[in-house]
Amino acid sequence: MSAEAESTYDVVILGGGSGGYACALRSAELGLKVALVEKGKLGGTCLHRGCIPTKALLHAAEVADSAREGEQFGVKTTFESVDMSGVNRYKDGVVGRLYKGLQGLVQSREIDYVEGEGRLVAPDTVEAAGRRLVGRHVVLATGSYAKSLPGLEISGRVMTSDQALSLDSVPARVVVLGGGVIGVEFASVFKSFGAEVTIVEALPRLVAAEDEAISKQLERSFRKRKIAFKTGARFAGAEQHGDVVTVSLESGETIEADLLLVAVGRGPVTIGVGYEEAGVAMDRGYVLADERCRTNVDGVFAVGDIVPGLQLAHRGFAQGIFVAEQIAGLNPPVIDELGIPRVTYCEPEIASVGLTEAQAREKYAEIETYDYNLGGNGKSQILQTQGFIKLVREKDGPVVGVHMIGARMAEQVGEAQLIYNWEALPSDVAQLIHAHPTQNEALGEAHLALAGKPLHAHA
Ligand code: NAI
Repeated sequence: MSAEAESTYDVVILGGGSGGYACALRSAELGLKVALVEKGKLGGTCLHRGCIPTKALLHAAEVADSAREGEQFGVKTTFESVDMSGVNRYKDGVVGRLYKGLQGLVQSREIDYVEGEGRLVAPDTVEAAGRRLVGRHVVLATGSYAKSLPGLEISGRVMTSDQALSLDSVPARVVVLGGGVIGVEFASVFKSFGAEVTIVEALPRLVAAEDEAISKQLERSFRKRKIAFKTGARFAGAEQHGDVVTVSLESGETIEADLLLVAVGRGPVTIGVGYEEAGVAMDRGYVLADERCRTNVDGVFAVGDIVPGLQLAHRGFAQGIFVAEQIAGLNPPVIDELGIPRVTYCEPEIASVGLTEAQAREKYAEIETYDYNLGGNGKSQILQTQGFIKLVREKDGPVVGVHMIGARMAEQVGEAQLIYNWEALPSDVAQLIHAHPTQNEALGEAHLALAGKPLHAHA
């Protein structure tokens, strides 16, 4: 390779998804010379195959539900059908505009954007598009892929979220394998679009990472929506014959469907990119990084889904920004993983931050919990939604967990995370005035109650 093809930078970033591009933007803002390497599209999973397109589908699903449910509100509407080409046009339009905006941002910050498959060839060098990019610091941000199970091939009617995002028609019967975040979101979309849906989940409950009370309420709501689910059910195999995929469970039961969506987790993209060869410490394919996102190799950082922990875009953004500031010598405060808000956008929505009740019981000698039922919240009644806000606090101490379920509850997670991250006491929140009639008021009321002065709630 010729010497001309070698360039040096303050930061070389491998992967242009949420973690990588956030790191590039913040590094450039801080005056660092940056190269950003991406083999696919800038924006990565979140923008092209994850958060954005799936939430567009969920919004279309909500519109379909509104058309069906007009009568409840005295409005005469009829639901005719879902035209997937129209849905896809809308979804792709949203993604396309954001993609353009992001490309413009990267250009305007004078980041050296390198299109091509990158590889870490030395602890300070990434090779891509025939160039050697040498960095004082290297940031690994190669993200994740949709996993399958051993022996379960993704082809034809067996899909992951990657393929399920661009269907050209609504399947009549869907089996969703995995009742985690992707599973319940897609189950929700398919049901609203008119499919018959069955979720198969190996653990005893849906969204098993959430507080148990949230799982129970989601299961209640899904039963009401006629979304079938089998928990504690282990998958045995799937066979495709003609237009039908037959899913068998270890119990011997079989389910026929037109589509099997595999949503059993996402794995890190770390094979064949030179990490191991460069001596980066890994565990089961994940890159090990300390609380300052440093790997064991000097000058090499890792952010986003390749680092064990929550696989969320906003965690990637935060880690990317953190690393840029760390490199620039700003000594940013360490990210508290528990303080990262978690949202699942099925109907009803789930939002949480901090510890579940079970986790808090392990950590603290004594805790208190309070469930505020949305039945007492005016705006939730106007929306005709059911659910609750559950607070967990250390006895006589701050709120250490907030768990919410109900239509539109995702939007409440902003205040919930402030409460958790600022270690607020229920009485601190109780003195803040929450606007009436909003769903946000329910968060205020829950704290009033936990502070011992309930308004629209029983003590
Ligand atoms: P997940 O880990 O949330 O759920 C996978 C589920 O599949 C688990 O409940 C697991 O018990 C089940 N499972 C695994 N093997 C099974 C088997 N053999 N039979 C039956 N069930 C089995 O992973 P998911 O839903 O694929 O999502 C991947 C990642 O993407 C997650 O980390 C998630 O947080 C993230 N994501 C976040 C979103 C959001 O923030 N709204 C949206 C979509 C994904």
